[in-house]
Amino acid sequence: MRGGGVGVVAAAAVLVVAVGICVVDPQHVAAQPLVVNTTTSRLVDSHGRERIFHGTNVVFKGPPYVPIIDRFDYQYSFSKDDVALLSKWGVNAIRLGVMWPGVEPEKGKYNQTYLQHLQNITAMCEEQGIWVLLDMHQDVWSERFCGEGVPYWAADPGPDAKGFPAPLDKPYNVNSTTGLPSAQDCGKHDWPDYYFASAVGAAVQRMYDNQDGLLDAFCSFWALVASTFKSYTNILGYELINEPWAGDVNKDPDLLVPGQADKKNLQNTYDKAAAAIRAVDPDTPIFFETVTWDDVVVGFSHPPGGADSGHKSVLAYHYYMPPNFGPKETIQLHLDAAKKLNCGTFCSETDGEVFFETADPFFQSWMRWEYKAFVPKTGSNFGFWNSNGTVNSDMVFNLTRTYAPIIAGHGVDMHFSRENSTFELAFLLNKTCTAPTVVYAYTALHYPNGVNITVDPPVLSWAETTTNYYEFKPILRVAKDGQRVTVTFKNGESHANAVHSDGLGG
Ligand SMILES: *[C@@H]1O[C@H](CO)[C@@H](O)[C@H](O)[C@H]1NC(C)=O
Ligand SMILES: *[C@@H]1O[C@H](CO)[C@@H](O)[C@H](O)[C@H]1NC(C)=O
Ligand SMILES: *[C@@H]1O[C@H](CO)[C@@H](O)[C@H](O)[C@H]1NC(C)=O
Ligand SMILES: *[C@@H]1O[C@H](CO)[C@@H](O)[C@H](O)[C@H]1NC(C)=O
Ligand SMILES: *[C@@H]1O[C@H](CO)[C@@H](O)[C@H](O)[C@H]1NC(C)=O
Ligand SMILES: *[C@@H]1O[C@H](CO)[C@@H](O)[C@H](O)[C@H]1NC(C)=O
Ligand SMILES: *[C@@H]1O[C@H](CO)[C@@H](O)[C@H](O)[C@H]1NC(C)=O
Ligand SMILES: *[C@@H]1O[C@H](CO)[C@@H](O)[C@H](O)[C@H]1NC(C)=O
Ligand SMILES: *[C@@H]1O[C@H](CO)[C@@H](O)[C@H](O)[C@H]1NC(C)=O
Repeated sequence: MRGGGVGVVAAAAVLVVAVGICVVDPQHVAAQPLVVNTTTSRLVDSHGRERIFHGTNVVFKGPPYVPIIDRFDYQYSFSKDDVALLSKWGVNAIRLGVMWPGVEPEKGKYNQTYLQHLQNITAMCEEQGIWVLLDMHQDVWSERFCGEGVPYWAADPGPDAKGFPAPLDKPYNVNSTTGLPSAQDCGKHDWPDYYFASAVGAAVQRMYDNQDGLLDAFCSFWALVASTFKSYTNILGYELINEPWAGDVNKDPDLLVPGQADKKNLQNTYDKAAAAIRAVDPDTPIFFETVTWDDVVVGFSHPPGGADSGHKSVLAYHYYMPPNFGPKETIQLHLDAAKKLNCGTFCSETDGEVFFETADPFFQSWMRWEYKAFVPKTGSNFGFWNSNGTVNSDMVFNLTRTYAPIIAGHGVDMHFSRENSTFELAFLLNKTCTAPTVVYAYTALHYPNGVNITVDPPVLSWAETTTNYYEFKPILRVAKDGQRVTVTFKNGESHANAVHSDGLGG
């Protein structure tokens, strides 16, 4: 099981006999729906355990809007082999792009084959205990504007807008068959600049304002997605719009003032979408984002669907440096906003190594951007894979942090050192919880001398139930409910002294 003859070191003093037979449901799902504990802003499962996610984005931005699923390809697939690798790497969630043009290429005509592809991805993940956050992904709204997001028919800028991308540049020619500008023209400006084209703001605003029934169509899209996926046991949530644009900033420049777009455009859009989703799926968490510069002030008065829906709502944010402030400030700002809104928080995109370390003691979940190159547009993809098809081992090393994906109690501190692999989790034990606390540790990579696990005070038994996944349970005769317990993982002192044990006392 453990590659390269790596032994596992166990401190004899804390070696305890595991009680009973472990139920085979470690990190494995069967614990939904997740709800937000509105006091801590953390996601909690049906056993009352806190859940932390280390994930990666799987967003295929161009046709056919979905990765290859039936065979492995280092650039284009998301297959069973990919899922097995991610599980080994401690990834317990993906953010999966549900691209609206894939779902509804023509108005009112839904592509069931496309949805089936995404369902099969979800089913593969479900088997491995990986959760799926369904993401309506967009950047600069549409292929009509050198981006991706809404279908062609939903991106009409209306009669008053200047030809794209005016006033940024003189209007680009469009292909008479596709109606789209050429890749060459699109390359003339950095993609975020296109947000300031008059056609983009107009098209976005038309949806927010339900012109041509576009907001209704958006709500129908979400209702269909929710009814298609709600029966899977591993749906983490529905993320309504990725990095939503403010609206028609050329007509109403106030929308650029922090807080204003959330208030004027997004609140209503999200309330409508939430109502459509809740009509078919009352429980699965809804993830919602502010405009990307609302690191200063979050302008929502309530979570999507109303003030009483906070326990099923998660304020999602992204961390990139620049434009964000430091990771600590970003996390704190969103935790403060979540407190006001009575909802959860989650970093659904980041590329920052610096973010991971800061996130641990805050028990913040994150999704790395992005798993593979897929369709390289509107931003760069630094995937787990090099461009020559080999695994980016530096990336794997950085992402496979030891962490506690599941805590049967309340986590109060968590640290992992990338330098020496020392990991520490302190939590207040929930003794009445029969389901385990789980720690992920990629032992072959981070603990070459074996892993030395200690529990202080020694009130938990533990076992490595699946390679790299360690389960901890209270020893009922000594554990006290609510007591602070510290679990430590350290590199063994030397290979020669390594004592092989799986913690089961034999
Ligand atoms: C429907 O989706 C499938 C799978 O992605 C794709 O091959 C097909 O071309 C799509 N059909 C339409 C009309 O877009
Ligand atoms: C999805 O999986 C089902 C059942 O295994 C299979 O019949 C179907 O062809 C798959 N669909 C796609 C689009 O891969
Ligand atoms: C227009 O798009 C079609 C379909 O993608 C393509 O075959 C054709 O070459 C394009 N025309 C020009 C002039 O680029
Ligand atoms: C592939 O690319 C990576 C990163 O550039 C490099 O380190 C590695 O040596 C390359 N491997 C092969 C077999 O070319
Ligand atoms: C891994 O993390 C180190 C330290 O934070 C950083 O310098 C390096 O760039 C990271 N490597 C990758 C591929 O992200
Ligand atoms: C939320 O978590 C805190 C800390 O663990 C706990 O005291 C509280 O009872 C929880 N609230 C609910 C409603 O479970
Ligand atoms: C491991 O490194 C961290 C800093 O990353 C340091 O605080 C800690 O003392 C080190 N622990 C050991 C056992 O060397
Ligand atoms: C403790 O665990 C029990 C059983 O799983 C659960 O019902 C309860 O909500 C948990 N308590 C807290 C405060 O989370
Ligand atoms: C494991 O760590 C403990 C406490 O940090 C230490 O006392 C013990 O010697 C270590 N055991 C081994 C076998 O490395």
